[in-house]
Amino acid sequence: MTRRRHYSLTLRLAVIFALLAFALLATLGVALYRELERELIKRDDAALIYRTDQLRNLLNDSNTLDLIKTKPELFQNMLGNSESVLSIAAPGQKPLLLVNPGNIEMPVVPAVAKDHALGLADVHHLPGVNDVPFAAVAASIDSGDLGSLQVTTGRLMTERTAMLASYRLSVFILASIAAIILALVGYLLVHRGLLPLRRLARHAQGIGVGNLAERLDSHGAPKELLPMIDAFNTMLERLARGFVQLGQVSTDMAHELRTPINNLLGETQVALQQSRSIESYQQLLASNVEELERLARMLDNMLFLARTDPASALRQRQELSAADEVERIADYFEGLASDVEVSIRAEGEGVIWAEPMLLRRALANLCANAIKYGAPRSELLIQAVPQAEGITLRVSNQGETIAAEHLPRLFERFYRVDESRERSAQSNGLGLSIVATIMQLHNGRYSVSSEAGLTCFELFFPRRDD
Ligand SMILES: Nc1ncnc2c1ncn2[C@@H]1O[C@H](COP(=O)(O)OP(=O)(O)OP(=O)(O)O)[C@@H](O)[C@H]1O
Ligand SMILES: [Mg+2]
Repeated sequence: MTRRRHYSLTLRLAVIFALLAFALLATLGVALYRELERELIKRDDAALIYRTDQLRNLLNDSNTLDLIKTKPELFQNMLGNSESVLSIAAPGQKPLLLVNPGNIEMPVVPAVAKDHALGLADVHHLPGVNDVPFAAVAASIDSGDLGSLQVTTGRLMTERTAMLASYRLSVFILASIAAIILALVGYLLVHRGLLPLRRLARHAQGIGVGNLAERLDSHGAPKELLPMIDAFNTMLERLARGFVQLGQVSTDMAHELRTPINNLLGETQVALQQSRSIESYQQLLASNVEELERLARMLDNMLFLARTDPASALRQRQELSAADEVERIADYFEGLASDVEVSIRAEGEGVIWAEPMLLRRALANLCANAIKYGAPRSELLIQAVPQAEGITLRVSNQGETIAAEHLPRLFERFYRVDESRERSAQSNGLGLSIVATIMQLHNGRYSVSSEAGLTCFELFFPRRDD
């Protein structure tokens, strides 16, 4: 079996927070970076054009040209840095002036005609050296007797590149810091948010058999947890009920088993105190067998109640003919009834929607009672009365009226109207509780009435709903 690993919600959310923060800030940073880069290039280009324009004007003055020719060294330092290049040359000839302190390779760029004003579009961007871009502008000038000259200015954009690089680094560092902060904050928030859950888990851990009445406290819990708390509490409710029921059954059972076992024990011990005649041993064994049979029957019934699985019972429901069923039960009890001269009358029709074995067991329990507790030489009536939403089965017998205070309790487990009398008469008080269980399984109803010497049990089975 492979064990599924459980992921941490907290960790997962923290990581998602971090990634999102990083992605968002990095995107923003890159967008701003591009904007800045464009702006800086524009400025640099404008500066280059300005310089070229100025040179153009300067060189229009023939005195300047003379000066350049006679004393070029005057111009050697005019650029003031080693990144700029300036060349003044007639096309195809050795330059009149070349200022190139950084020894940058002079690129050849097409010159702008002399009557054209320079614009940003005239700046050429070249790869330069070491990934540092190089911008260059060339313009023609008319210099009288020297003919057409070409001024080329260029600049290596080291400063801009460095600035942009540091900007890029800042963006990256800031985005990373933001991601880490958000991951931490996210972690703390989720961790805090899950606190009520941990509190509930601790509480739930403390609930056991001893304190099944305790419920999870929804006070202060977030709204999202309320359905879970509710579901858990109703589960506890059900468990507690089942547990109480189970406890009741075992207490009842222990109580009910004690008397017959004590009887068996007492009688057998007394018999063993001295030697006796064979007849008295036989008598003792016969009485023991009777008691043991009763115990066996009781255990049987208890097991039936414990084992019946509601789901499977409901699945096995069938549409049964009521006439057949009452006839069948009448036949079954004929022998027992004739012993006490009771006549059985079965009548009625309709359809019963029930699990056959359970239905027969319920009817049998009622009939057995009717014969056992009814008056001898009377009539036992078994009726099926079809109704709109189901069918009522009625078992009535003549006999002693059951006092009204007993009626509501008859269906309880081990309840007997006259305990002392009925214990000896093989009575466990389980028959009717089985009937009740069977009727609950069928979503049916059961009732009893006893008036003027007529006791009548009624079972209602709802009809099949499609
Ligand atoms: N038809 C009846 N007439 C009079 N009393 C009845 C009738 N049916 C049941 N009772 C009373 O209800 C009690 C409970 O009946 P139930 O069938 O549950 O148990 P039981 O018959 O005593 O024992 P078991 O059925 O487990 O052998 C009986 O002890 C009896 O006092
Ligand atoms: Mg009974």
